[in-house]
Amino acid sequence: MGFAKDILCIGAGYVGGPTMAMIAARCPHYKVTVVDINHARIAAWQSDQLPIYEPGLDEVVRQARGRNLFFSTQVEQGIRDADIIFVSVNTPTKTFGQGAGRAADLQYWEKTARQILEHADRNKIVVEKSTLPVRTAEAMERILNANTKNIRFEVLSNPEFLAEGSAITDLEAPDRVLIGSKETPEGITARRAIVDIYANWVPRENIIESNVWSSELSKLAANAFLAQRISSINAISALCEKTEADVDEVAYAIGKDSRIGPKFLKASVGFGGSCFKKDILNLVYICHSYGLGEVAAYWESVVKINEWQESRFVRTILESMFNTVAGKRIALLGFAFKANTGDTRESPAIYIARGLAEERAEVVVTDPQALANARDDLTDMGDRVHFESDPYTAAEGAHALAILTEWDVYRQLDYARIFASMEQPAFLFDGRNILDHQRLFELGFNVFPIGKAALKHF
Ligand SMILES: NC(=O)c1ccc[n+]([C@@H]2O[C@H](COP(=O)([O-])OP(=O)(O)OC[C@H]3O[C@@H](n4cnc5c(N)ncnc54)[C@H](O)[C@@H]3O)[C@@H](O)[C@H]2O)c1
Repeated sequence: MGFAKDILCIGAGYVGGPTMAMIAARCPHYKVTVVDINHARIAAWQSDQLPIYEPGLDEVVRQARGRNLFFSTQVEQGIRDADIIFVSVNTPTKTFGQGAGRAADLQYWEKTARQILEHADRNKIVVEKSTLPVRTAEAMERILNANTKNIRFEVLSNPEFLAEGSAITDLEAPDRVLIGSKETPEGITARRAIVDIYANWVPRENIIESNVWSSELSKLAANAFLAQRISSINAISALCEKTEADVDEVAYAIGKDSRIGPKFLKASVGFGGSCFKKDILNLVYICHSYGLGEVAAYWESVVKINEWQESRFVRTILESMFNTVAGKRIALLGFAFKANTGDTRESPAIYIARGLAEERAEVVVTDPQALANARDDLTDMGDRVHFESDPYTAAEGAHALAILTEWDVYRQLDYARIFASMEQPAFLFDGRNILDHQRLFELGFNVFPIGKAALKHF
């Protein structure tokens, strides 16, 4: 059977895999191929053990794989065959040279652009799915169109707004899909082709069209706004702890204001994930490069508060456990940066595990999905950190528990049994405010929530 369109995605990660699986599932008339240079990752996408954990993903992949969804390492062949190429490679923060620690590292993106240039033999639409600095599409188009093969490339921006942990529902019913292109006739024709893909299942009014720069900047700005809300409530949480206000009550009261709304107002140990910090730092870098120092400083403070919140959590543990945790077993419940994902990139748990190990605590990490990644993140810690899949075993003999990820399973544990197996006095630090603190206190725990008065037996 011939397909109406041949779509390629370069980069089979947290974005490329689920996004393309959804397009393939909803558009059986398109052929969708996802390629990656990482052979192990592609092999996993072809197997029953997908390389990422995401609720509902298995089913979507199963629906389309082998029919019109294919995973492959044949990048060059994929480029030759494709009409439309989505690029979803990683764009981490640069670790070297100018802009180190802030600017986006565009080497993977540029390598991909050069590969496309080398292997394409007819006109193509290239779509930025990766999050990129504003004006990257323009630069890429210049590289691509400086060819002597008489081939034209239209570079569009179609940033991905999915959230890990709810990627499938986000892709099924996105708040919006954003597609940016040049406002030239060719740009607008290419934009239509991408609109046509999403229009197979996304209501037309939720598909926004814009110029390419607005689209690129909207993604950075959206992440900055989301992270800013978390840092705002976390800043208030610190004040709550000093004043006996309760941060959950404050968040509820302010979230009832329809101008503010209730989402992303949950105080916690801090935000993580591969995107928020890197995208804000990228925004900060761009602002600086346009001479907007004040704007840069404003957004940078969002990251600073987050780092401060993580270090404050370690300090609270240390100070409340009589200023020493040396030799004390501390069980970290959760290592993923949020629930329903195995992703640990930039997880606050990494910083906290390291901070406690530096204080010579015996750290035990447990997590229902993220233990393999946790092991990788902490390989250099040697036997100062242990890993345990069963939370009850992790807690056995511990002086303290710290909830670092809001997994549902941690709400349902038998805390009386856990308390009985722990050293006394037993401490519980709820870095996500997900437990019934009064009940835990009555069981005998000394409870330290975020942004609320501690409940202590001494
Ligand atoms: N993870 C998220 O929740 C999320 C959400 C929205 C946007 N984004 C953005 O999407 C982009 C991808 O993020 P991710 O989390 O999927 O990253 P990821 O690291 O999980 O996946 C990127 C993949 O690209 C592959 N790759 C790199 N260079 C390649 C090349 N030249 N040819 C073929 N494959 C190549 C890597 O091997 C890797 O498997 C980033 O720009 C990120 O900021 C991520």
